[in-house]
Parts: sequence; C-alpha cells; structure tokens
Amino acid sequence: MPDRYLFKEIEVRTDAYKAQHPDARLLRMGVGDVTQPLPAAVIEAMHKAVDELAHVETFRGYGPEEGYAWLRQAVIDHEYTPRGIRLDIDEVFISEGAGSDLGNLSELFLPSNRVAILDPSYPAYMDGSIMAGREVIHLPCTIANGFVPELPKQKADIIYLCLPNNPTGTVLRRHELQQWVNYAIENQSIIIFDAAYEAYIEEDDVPHSIYELEGAKQVAIEVRSFSKSAGFTAVRCGYTVVPKETGLNAMWLRRQCTKYNGTAYVAQRAAQATFTPEGKQGIAANLAYYKRTAHLIADGLTALGYKVYGGKNAPYIWCKTPDTMDSWTFFDLLLHQCQVVCTPGAGFGDAGQGFVRFSAFSNRKDVEEALQRMKKL
Ligand code: MLT
Repeated sequence: MPDRYLFKEIEVRTDAYKAQHPDARLLRMGVGDVTQPLPAAVIEAMHKAVDELAHVETFRGYGPEEGYAWLRQAVIDHEYTPRGIRLDIDEVFISEGAGSDLGNLSELFLPSNRVAILDPSYPAYMDGSIMAGREVIHLPCTIANGFVPELPKQKADIIYLCLPNNPTGTVLRRHELQQWVNYAIENQSIIIFDAAYEAYIEEDDVPHSIYELEGAKQVAIEVRSFSKSAGFTAVRCGYTVVPKETGLNAMWLRRQCTKYNGTAYVAQRAAQATFTPEGKQGIAANLAYYKRTAHLIADGLTALGYKVYGGKNAPYIWCKTPDTMDSWTFFDLLLHQCQVVCTPGAGFGDAGQGFVRFSAFSNRKDVEEALQRMKKL
C-alpha cells in the first residue's frame, strides 16, 4: 500500500508547489469535490434544523443509529419505489457518506474472504482490503476490454463494483450487470455496489440501482451518497441498503449500533430537503452544470489530440497520457507547466498507469482556462 492515500498525496504535492509559487492560480480538476453551492431549499432546511437545536422544546440528542425514519422513508419513496424496487424501511441505513460505509462493510466478512476489485478503481476499496488483510483478485479494465471487467475466474467472496465507474466513467448495460448478479448467486458472493454517481447516468438501459436486476437483493449491498448528486461533500450524508435476503441486515445494524452514533440531525434534515420539489430543482440545475462541464472537458481534450474515455454518464474523464508518459510524470508536468491539478491514473491501480483523470466538478471558467493552458503546452 502506498504511504499516503491517493488524494492526500495529490494535496501534498499541490501544497508544495503552491508554497514555492504563491502567486500561481491553480486550476483544480483532481479530487471529485463539488464546487456549486447547495440549493436554497437545502440551506433553509439546515437553518431550521439548527434553530430547533437552540430551543428546549425542539432540542434533540442522539438520533437512531440507522437514521431517522422520515429520511429512510423518503429515500425509498423517491429513489427506489419509482424504479419498481420494493424495500422495507429497516433495509435502509443513513450514513455520514459512502466513503466510510464502503470501508466499514468489510467488517461483516472473514479476513479469509477473497475480494475482487476492478483495476483501476476508487482507491478506498483496495487500501481498505489491504488493511483488512484480504487476498485481492484484480480485474483489469483496459482499452482492450473497453474498461468492462471480466467476471473473476477464481471464486470471489466480496466484489466491489462502482457504476458509473470512478475513474473510467464506464457503465454496464442491464444484461451485463445481470451477469455479475448471476455470478454472485452461483458463487455465494456479496457485491458491494457503489452507486455514488448514478445521478450522472444519461442513457437508457443503464441501471441506476443494482436492485433493478433479477435476484440482486439476495447478493448485493448498495451504497449511495448525497455528496456527488446533491453537493454534500462538506455536509456528509449518504445511505446504504442492506437487504434482509443477504443475511447481513441484522449484523450491519448490530455493527452500526456498536460503532456509529448516527448521522448529524442537521445533515439528515438537509438530505430530506433534497427530495422536495424545490430541492430537486436546485439539484437538477447543479447536475446539469457538472454534466455540461464533463462534456466540455471531454470535447476540449479530444480537440487537443488526447484520447479520452468517460465524461458521459459520469463526472470523470479518463485521459490517456501523451506518448508513453507515466501518470505521475504527466501529473507533475500539468501542475508545473499549466498549474492544472488532475489525478494520476496509476493511483487507482496498476491498470491505471498511463492515464490521468479529470474531474468535472470544477468551475466552468477554470476548466476553460485549463484547456487554454494545455493548448499552449
Ligand atoms: C474521487 O475519486 O475524487 C473521490 O470519489 C473523492 C471521494 O469521494 O472520496
């Protein structure tokens, strides 16, 4: 495992550059962190929740570890029922965001359980699995296979899938994802399905939830976040669905009650407001902004002669480095010559070597300027 977590390494290198060049205006397209303000309806809900905590009549202490019923029900009503997915309220667990749950879910399994991870992928899956002492099966996603991984040849007990994919932007069609569900049923595996980017899906026939697939409730845990859909990276709120059919629901509740004291009340009220008509409108505007930025980056890099993938159905653009330059060399080149920050593909796994990732969560003007600077380069 590298000494530093990928995004910390980027921060350290960027800060070092900034310390040496205090006047440089850095254009950040590295970590997938949102830049647009929260919708007014969300802000109002947070103000109201804060005021409730200021009065003895409306004050609240600990909430339920699994989240307030009003938010869990809103998640079911707005995210799952409209897609024909039936969930019980006690199958939805409110969290402080996807990142922690993606790591913590690992505690439901034996250290000897083998984990399959796409390469490249969000580094927390790999780092978390190494910390848990697990054997890892790498599933390479390359230009040759269109970044669509093959099913594991050995038996995998746990499979991390992130779709739309971070970092490559790949999506799987319904029939392709069904093959993974079938594999998990046949092999008694559990799929940990990271759906943090489902709001970026633009095409039909791409499932938004793994539970749209036949049999998935037996074998899949779905992890979602308000971060990338509603701009909650600072607020911190997400949710994890652990269906009873997986046999893991009671164990996850037991784990959460022991080790997690619940998501902040103010954050849960903010999340609830994302489901109001005004909240939905504000979020749709932000999503449209990021999607347009993704297209702008993809088209701009293509016009500069780069080979790019993703940017459609996903807020990330996966870009081949020029010639045979390695990822970190190109990262340093862009930082030093253009003051543009990207994410080196090698940080997502060995198969990410020779790529960098650009995030569309940046300000549009910064993206336009970054493309201009790269043109000069
Ligand atoms: C990223 O890939 O930039 C991450 O998703 C950021 C995060 O959510 O941890």
